[in-house]
Amino acid sequence: MQDGKRHLILIGFMGTGKSTVGKAVAELLQVPWRDTDLSLETEWGHSIPEYFKRYGENAFRQAETGMLAKCLAEKPAVITTGGGIVLHPGNRDLMIQNGYVIHLQADANTIIKRVKQDDPKRPLLAGNQVEKKVQELMQEREGYYDFADFTIDTTASSLQKIINEVVQYWPKQAV
Ligand code: S3P
Repeated sequence: MQDGKRHLILIGFMGTGKSTVGKAVAELLQVPWRDTDLSLETEWGHSIPEYFKRYGENAFRQAETGMLAKCLAEKPAVITTGGGIVLHPGNRDLMIQNGYVIHLQADANTIIKRVKQDDPKRPLLAGNQVEKKVQELMQEREGYYDFADFTIDTTASSLQKIINEVVQYWPKQAV
């Protein structure tokens, strides 16, 4: 294990399957699973859309950074993150120093299909024109995920194949 890289961290745009894959990998490897969004919702007692409505995106970003730091300070875990966690350079540094960072990616059409199937739980995609919003955000975020140690294209992959790739990638001694 490289010094300090204690966790397995999944990053990626909304709808790339971070939470589903992370939860399954954690179960398989018998390590804790932490999700920054779910942990925030538990701490607040209300949902992310509700938090955005009350306090706005900037406040959410600050809370997200605080939760990332908390998760990283705990024992080794599979940590899954919100799609925008990479926007803050400090978060990118923290993640790459403290974990093996895996980027799950997918093409825009696949992401659009997946987020439309999900519950309407994403404030940045709320309302009409999901296609346009996804395309714009993907463009704005181009390059932000490139700092990852490893990237997996989930576009045409089965869940099982992605899980296997993640497990194979994570050095055993990091567990
Ligand atoms: C966000 C992604 C969401 C959540 C919040 C903001 C983003 O998480 O953190 O709605 O800025 O991309 P998912 O990537 O799990 O949907």
